[in-house]
Order: sequence, then C-alpha cells, then structure tokens
Amino acid sequence: NAEKKIHNTDFLVIGSGIAGLSFALKTANHFKDASITIITKDEKNECNTKYAQGGISTVWDKTVDSFEQHIKDTLIAGDGVCDEDVVKMVVKSAPDRLQDLIEWGTQFDKTKDGNYTLGREGGHSQDRILHHKDITGAEIERALIEQVDKTKNITFLTYHYAIDLITEHQLKKKKTKRAEKITCYGAYVLDQKKNIVKTFSAKVTMLATGGNGQVYNTTTNPVIATGDGIAMAYRAKAEISDVEFIQFHPTALYNPGEYPAFLISEAVRGEGAILRDYNGKRFMHKYDPREELASRDIVARAIDTELKKSGTTNVYLDCTHIDFEAFKKHFPNITEKCLTLGIDVRKDYIPVCPAQHYICGGVTVNKKAKTSIKNLYASGEVTRSGLHGANRLASNSLLEGLVYSYNAFKNLTRRFHKIKTPKNIPVWNDSGVVKNMEKILITHDRNEVKTIMSNYVGIVRSNERLLRAERKLRVLYEDNKRLYDHSELSTDLCELRNLITTAYLITQFSKNRKENKGGFFSADLIKKES
Ligand code: FAD
Ligand code: SIN
Repeated sequence: NAEKKIHNTDFLVIGSGIAGLSFALKTANHFKDASITIITKDEKNECNTKYAQGGISTVWDKTVDSFEQHIKDTLIAGDGVCDEDVVKMVVKSAPDRLQDLIEWGTQFDKTKDGNYTLGREGGHSQDRILHHKDITGAEIERALIEQVDKTKNITFLTYHYAIDLITEHQLKKKKTKRAEKITCYGAYVLDQKKNIVKTFSAKVTMLATGGNGQVYNTTTNPVIATGDGIAMAYRAKAEISDVEFIQFHPTALYNPGEYPAFLISEAVRGEGAILRDYNGKRFMHKYDPREELASRDIVARAIDTELKKSGTTNVYLDCTHIDFEAFKKHFPNITEKCLTLGIDVRKDYIPVCPAQHYICGGVTVNKKAKTSIKNLYASGEVTRSGLHGANRLASNSLLEGLVYSYNAFKNLTRRFHKIKTPKNIPVWNDSGVVKNMEKILITHDRNEVKTIMSNYVGIVRSNERLLRAERKLRVLYEDNKRLYDHSELSTDLCELRNLITTAYLITQFSKNRKENKGGFFSADLIKKES
C-alpha cells in the first residue's frame, strides 16, 4: 500500500499541538513563498495541548514578580538537573511569546479592570499563570487552528500518521552511527483514511509529536500520546536524554473505568484546596513545608506513600471552604465534571489519586530547537531541552513549546535559504510477507506494556522492578518485531512499536540513574543514601 509519488514540501511539521501550530504560523508568515505541511494523526485539535487546564506561566506583572523568581522556582522544581542558561532564556522570552498567542487571538481571563487574572500552582512563589477558565489548552488550540486555517501556504492534513523519519538510512548511503552525520529528509506517512503510505520529502522537518502517557495504565494524556516522536527519533539515531524523569500529577480524579483520567488542575490547590487522607486528615505538612503547593514530584510521592500505608485507592481534595462563585468562575469544567458524578464541591470532597502526566526528557535539543540530526528540529513535550530538569514546574510546558518553536523559526530565518531540496528519496518499501495476524494481539500487547510500566516503572521504582520490566519488555519487543515485519501496516501496530520503544528507553535510563531526583525515585537508592 505504498504510493509511488513523492510529496515535496519545504517544511514538514509533525503534530498539531501548541509546538507544531505555533511553528507553522511563524514560518508561514515569514517565508511567504514556502510550502508548509502539517500532518497530524487525529482530528486537528486532538493532542495534549487541548486538555491543558491550569494555563501558561509568565512574569506578567513586574511590580510583584520578577524573572529571577520564576527562574528560581523552575530550578528548584527541576531538582538540580535543569540547564540554568536554558531556564533563563525561556523565562525571559515568555512575555513576548505570550504576546504572540494573544495576537493570534487567544483569550485569557481578565479582571474587571482589564488586567489578566494570574493563577498560582505548585512550586510557584508568585501568581503568574495566564489562563482561560480551566480549559486554557482548548482555547489555545481554537485560536491557533483558526489562524492556520486562514494561512494560504499551510496545508493541514488530518489522519496522517508519521511512521518513520527519512534519513541516510533509507537513502542507502554509507551507514553511520553518529547522529551528527545524519540528515533528515522528511518522513514516511500513513494516510489513515486511504490506507496508503505517502512519502514526504522536506527541507526541514519539525518534530512536535508530544508525550507518551499511554505507556502507563493511569494517565491524564489522551490516546494519541504514544511516544511516536521519541521512538522515531531514536530509530533515526538522534540523541535522547532524561526520559527516566516521568511526572505524575498528584490529583487526577479517581473515577475507576474513566480513561484517560480527568485532571483536577493544580490551580485548584493554588486557590486553597486541601489534601486529606481517607479518614479526612491533612497530611502534606509531614512531607514539605509548602504543603499542598510543594512541587508535583513531592506531592505525588506523598500521596503514593499515604495510599500504600493505608491500602486505600485514593485521597481527597477538599474545596468546601473556597468561595463557590469564585471557584465556579475559574473552574467551570471541573465543577461540571464533578457534578455529573454526584460530587458537589461545596460540600463533598473530590476523590483523587496520582496519574502519569508528563515526560520531562525526550529528544535532545539545543536552544535553537535543533536535534542532533541535521535539518530535524523538535519542540514541545517530545524534547529534552534542559528547561524541566528532573521535574517540570507547573505550566512551564505550553511555554516551552511556544519558545522553542519560535527559536527554531528564528534559526531558520538565517539558514533556510541554504538548505537544498532533497534528491533521490525512495518511496516506502512495502515488500515482504504479509500474513493475516490477529488484531487482538496488538491490543493484548498494548495492555501489557501499560501493566509492566505501571507495576515496575512508576512513582517508586527499584532495581528488581526495573529488571523485571526490562525482561518483559524484551519479550514484547521480539513479538512486536515479528508482528511488524509480517502484518499489514496500521496505526495501532506502529503505535505499539513506539510504546514498546519508549517504555524500554524509560526503563534503561532509569537503570542508569544513580541518584534520586525529581520524577525519578528508586527505593534502593534511598536505602543506600540513609
Ligand atoms: P501535543 O499538544 O500533545 O501535540 C502533539 C501532536 O502530535 C498531536 O497533534 C498528535 O496528534 C500529533 N502526533 C503524535 N504522533 C504523531 C504521529 N506519529 N504522526 C502524526 N501526528 C502525530 N502544560 C502547561 O504548561 N499548562 C497546563 O495547564 C497543562 N495542563 C495539562 C493538562 C492535561 C490534562 C495534560 C494531559 C497536559 C497538561 N499540560 C499542561 C502539559 C501540556 O499540555 C503538554 O505538555 C503540551 O501541550 C505539549 O504540547 P506539544 O505541542 O508538544 O504536544
Ligand atoms: C494543571 O492544571 O494542573 C496542569 C498544569 C501543568 O501540567 O502544567
């Protein structure tokens, strides 16, 4: 099912979250004669960005806040693993990038006197989160897609799934293991509606494929978050780093059977909500002086400890003392969701438990968003930029995507004219034996990856758990390789391949990490330290 023609485009953008769309807009508006193609594997707006609740952090009011404080908060949350230069660059760029979003039509909540309402979240020493109620991400997607749809030199293709990046490897040039000698020439893409594989040849490829929450049983990430970008880049021999730092959000709604987990925004704790154990007692004071507003890794581990001690499934978030009208105004979506489950936040506690939320590492990029592969840029959750270190500060993720997509664009204003159109790109090779494999095997394996990762590579890991995960993932890898080589290509099958790869990478990087930091915690290391 390979199409024989080559689709030529100047810029190929893979992904339509905040990173992909903002890059496409900047690029298209500057390079008016260039062609920009965005491909995305689902509807235009289906991505992690769409579900963002809390908002975007930026130093907006310099009379009460400062870059220094935002920088300090980010470094503390990152637990000594952030790249300080990167943190400074991102924090200082934030107001300008927020201005871009506003100019593209994003509506952030304002007070009666017309100033932006600034929210607070865990780890922040000031109110600095611009937001649109509790549906900030959906508002950003609305505004960006509206702009993209108006931009003539952008082609936006939905249900187009990137299978693999095209590099020297497919060109059959001399093979090299060194990423700095590799160039990216585009990607092979499955047109999911027509079931054909298209070959996209591009001068520049922007990887903006987001995260990989689907490797866990409990996650706030939508089903598209299967780590495709990290796995594709890894197969192309790009440098990957810090993927052991997984962020578990402390307060996903505990509602068995609901998948993905619905998030109760950290901004709710920013408004004063209190965590209580199964017996209604407060517990955060035992873990951190900042209590409910400690950084996420600390709050999630505290809850995990309480749950293990008590043998219960969830703790509670108590909002009963918060002014209801103000609560409903800031969090209409959360209020409504709770009500549909019979939870009235005026008098009932909200049952919550931690869920996988974010991956801090990924494809290594420099400040210009360049990966270790030539002409392959990356931005957003798919990357390891150095901003988040071992644990991302709340609401710094949307910001990272905006800043790095802009930096990539700026870099390309200097070098795009020098990049030549790729030649002799081979179309997808679909030769090989195709047996009719049972589709249910893919479902079984997908569930198994999630179970392995949740059981053995979760909030608290250990040497034994990591070894078990590694052994089991190896078996899955071999089974999947057979399936992949002999079955008809499908999105499910490719996603499974990528889930196994990212799960394996997280496990390997965890095995190599010798110190507990942020989103990586091993019970064996704590024993050695004490
Ligand atoms: P995404 O928005 O996930 O976009 C990835 C895109 O790539 C999607 O369009 C997807 O379909 C596409 N894609 C993936 N693989 C392929 C493929 N193989 N082929 C083609 N297309 C592909 N961060 C904050 O800063 N503030 C918040 O308030 C906040 N709240 C959050 C709430 C929730 C419930 C969740 C899940 C996350 C939240 N985050 C928040 C994190 C933040 O939303 C994400 O990290 C950020 O949106 C990532 O943006 P992105 O553009 O990198 O990726
Ligand atoms: C939230 O609203 O709690 C999510 C914020 C984030 O992930 O940064």
